[in-house]
Amino acid sequence: MKQASMGLIGLAVMGANLARNLARNKIHTLVYNRTASKTEAFLQQFGNEYLTGSTDLADFCARLTKPRRILLMVKAGEPVDQMIAQLLPHLSPEDIVIDGGNSFYQDTRRRTKELEARGIHFVGMGISGGEEGALHGPSLMPGGSDASYEALEPILQAIAAKAEGGPCVAHIGPDGAGHYVKMVHNGIEYADMQLIADVYSIMKNVLRMDHQEMKALWEEWGRGRLSSYLVDITAKIMDRRDEKTGRPLLECVLDEAGQKGTGKWTGMSALDLGVPVPTIAEAVFARCLSSCRPMRLKASRILGTEAVPEPFSLDRKKQVLEDLENALYASKICAYAQGFALMAAAAEEYHWTLHFPDIAKIWRNGCIIRAAFLNTLSDIYSRNPGLENLILDDHFSRLLKEARPGWGRTVSLAQAAGTAVPGLASALEYFDMCRTEYTSANLIQAQRDFFGAHTYRRRDEDGVFHTEWEKA
Ligand code: 6PG
Repeated sequence: MKQASMGLIGLAVMGANLARNLARNKIHTLVYNRTASKTEAFLQQFGNEYLTGSTDLADFCARLTKPRRILLMVKAGEPVDQMIAQLLPHLSPEDIVIDGGNSFYQDTRRRTKELEARGIHFVGMGISGGEEGALHGPSLMPGGSDASYEALEPILQAIAAKAEGGPCVAHIGPDGAGHYVKMVHNGIEYADMQLIADVYSIMKNVLRMDHQEMKALWEEWGRGRLSSYLVDITAKIMDRRDEKTGRPLLECVLDEAGQKGTGKWTGMSALDLGVPVPTIAEAVFARCLSSCRPMRLKASRILGTEAVPEPFSLDRKKQVLEDLENALYASKICAYAQGFALMAAAAEEYHWTLHFPDIAKIWRNGCIIRAAFLNTLSDIYSRNPGLENLILDDHFSRLLKEARPGWGRTVSLAQAAGTAVPGLASALEYFDMCRTEYTSANLIQAQRDFFGAHTYRRRDEDGVFHTEWEKA
């Protein structure tokens, strides 16, 4: 029987779609699933000369060309370790095991070491794009050794999304680098989504726009510099009616946001490395707060909200919407600035060389955060790969300065109306703090020295000082 050049384990929707993508690209793929009936049903529907399967792990491994390439599409966490343990007796040195789940990068670092000790390559690969991306072309963020990437490159390039003709895949770096970058991608995804949700809040609660009006506006914005997958789907969501009630379906959806952990990990890593990512963290906390529904319901009864503002004149509304678009774009720049600053710090901490022009390029298509914005970002980093913070780029800094008045008006308007906009507000705070020459941290230092003799430094003199603050 012909040997397969790629093995894939785990036929949940992402795994199944990736297997079909591989086969469509004429890469002979052998699939395996823990439940044999799932493998059989899958093959019955999609099996062909490029897509075959096995229901026995030893047989599965024996039918792969060496060095074996095995893509694990199992649930992140324990299941990955369990599957590796089951595979190990059937693997040989130089084989490559790829973990395509949203695994925690520290687990990937550990697994890389463990498998390296046995001469096996481990590739932690971020895959973005959801079900559709997996089938038609995802954005791929593989980590791992140079040798493993070399062996995988043609396959990954074939199945990845394309942007301006180039495949959305690049070797991110050793051990956990691929999963780290995917984690930050998701942190940015959380921020992007929260910013859009904040704007929706203002449209709905302050401007009292109906769903058709909102849909039209998201579509219009989606044709401009905010053009992106998330804005596109937002317009489509606005348009969808509930079959049962005839009301906009969005209004029937419970306001408790779920999360699987990648946003939280981004925040945790940022806290560990001391990198400010307030907009990403706020997006995680906003999901947490949304889930405190019983408390929120009580609080809304006890504490109420501000009075809904009078309807706006057409001219005023036009101005508010213009401000809103500026606020969203400026906040987006800040969210990406935070994510990239975090990746820079992680690269230093873990001794990775993260190539930002490549990362921006492979996010241009296939992934959830794909957007026209990524073209701008990719140009910026190609021109200036060592840029310290995105807000310092000439093009972005000009835009941010121009947007600042309307951005401020937007946040004030929402706050005056009691409409929470945690994403927009935190991005604005980030921007304002970043551009403040002399912040209020002098007072924090004085307080620390006052109560704990923690000492402080002076602006006008080198050295470390302590003051008996209460002495006359
Ligand atoms: C992607 C997505 C994908 C998944 C998120 C959702 O890039 O394709 O990020 O990985 O949709 O993990 O995460 P939450 O359930 O935490 O929102």
